[in-house]
Amino acid sequence: MNKFTPNNSPLSIPPGGIIGVMGGGQLGRMLAMAAARLGLKVHIYCPEETCPAHDVCFAKTIASYSDEKALGAFAKAVDVITYEFENVPADCVSFLSSVGAVVRPGALALEKAQDRLVEKEFLNAIGVATAPFHPVDDLAALEAGLQKVGRPAILKTRRLGYDGKGQTTLRDEDTDLPGAFEKAIKIAWKEVGAAPSILEGFVPFEREISIIAARGADGDIQIYDPAENVHQNGILKSSTVPAKVSEETATHAMAIASSILEALDYVGVIGVEFFVLKSGDLIVNEFAPRVHNSGHWTFDACAVSQFEQHIRAVAGWPLGDPSRHSNAVMENLIGEEANAWREMAGEANTCVHLYGKHEARPGRKMGHVTRLAASQSNR
Ligand SMILES: Nc1ncnc2c1ncn2[C@@H]1O[C@H](COP(=O)(O)OP(=O)(O)O)[C@@H](O)[C@H]1O
Ligand SMILES: [Mg+2]
Repeated sequence: MNKFTPNNSPLSIPPGGIIGVMGGGQLGRMLAMAAARLGLKVHIYCPEETCPAHDVCFAKTIASYSDEKALGAFAKAVDVITYEFENVPADCVSFLSSVGAVVRPGALALEKAQDRLVEKEFLNAIGVATAPFHPVDDLAALEAGLQKVGRPAILKTRRLGYDGKGQTTLRDEDTDLPGAFEKAIKIAWKEVGAAPSILEGFVPFEREISIIAARGADGDIQIYDPAENVHQNGILKSSTVPAKVSEETATHAMAIASSILEALDYVGVIGVEFFVLKSGDLIVNEFAPRVHNSGHWTFDACAVSQFEQHIRAVAGWPLGDPSRHSNAVMENLIGEEANAWREMAGEANTCVHLYGKHEARPGRKMGHVTRLAASQSNR
């Protein structure tokens, strides 16, 4: 195989081929399971000795993302490379490309998604609305930002935040008392570790939805129905389809997701998170250049899941039909919640997914359960 193929080339990997996946969490695990159904194999690259994807993969490399020897061998051993988390270092991707590996989605998507400031500037530049924001590198910028975006406001680290980590909220009531304002901003700045951050105005959303969409190597775009998401403590709690939004809002969200895919010349699955205002207007919160937690329902409620869709896209296969054959509610099993697996396994129309993690730490995603709408029975 010619390894010197650009990201969006017609490179097509037949059954028997090997997909390299950077990262070995539950998303890598579910990608490997979907690839196996298509007769493709997954080789996981991650620094951890044990991880959820190891249970189900064809091959593994345990090495750091800066180990050029290991990266070079990985690139040789696989037919295409993708990733299951957006914080793959930029240097790692440029090294892989320099040795001729095809990385899908490409470096551009990672560059835009890894930094919340770059991400919002990119979205605004292509005409997509975001929360008002202000870059914050010190206390003076935080103060100026609060003048600009008002309160409440959310201070977020530009890089490496997930599941609400690296974020803190500044509320009106925290800052009304004399001297309290100075104190509140100092605490907030400390809470984000005095790291380069972004201050966002709080969006008074009516609901949150997300779009899972895919773009194939041939430019074809396929989009799943929007899911309605509920977060608790910054962590996704549940995703429900159908979302309670109008046809017009759903169509608009899909059009925004398409425009992001086109602008990034993207190959693979993307997850786009939206705030829906009372008026029906949409604000993009963020996007993830990978399969997304709010798309896990597609595993059980669609013929072709987001995981298979991503594998199809990066392997240069035709994309699958994203239509939904059932209504569904996906609930994350966080920490000890997964201990109820036995009861859930006995429920009708319920698909239990456990990630094989050994320790149920608080806030840790241990699995998820998807409850499908009761099927029609003729008996
Ligand atoms: N600007 C905002 N206005 C209102 N709510 C927000 C805002 N930013 C984040 N949130 C809430 O916090 C959740 C997590 O924030 P998000 O930026 O998506 O971080 P993460 O990368 O951890 O998912 C969002 O899904 C939403 O519920
Ligand atoms: Mg989010």
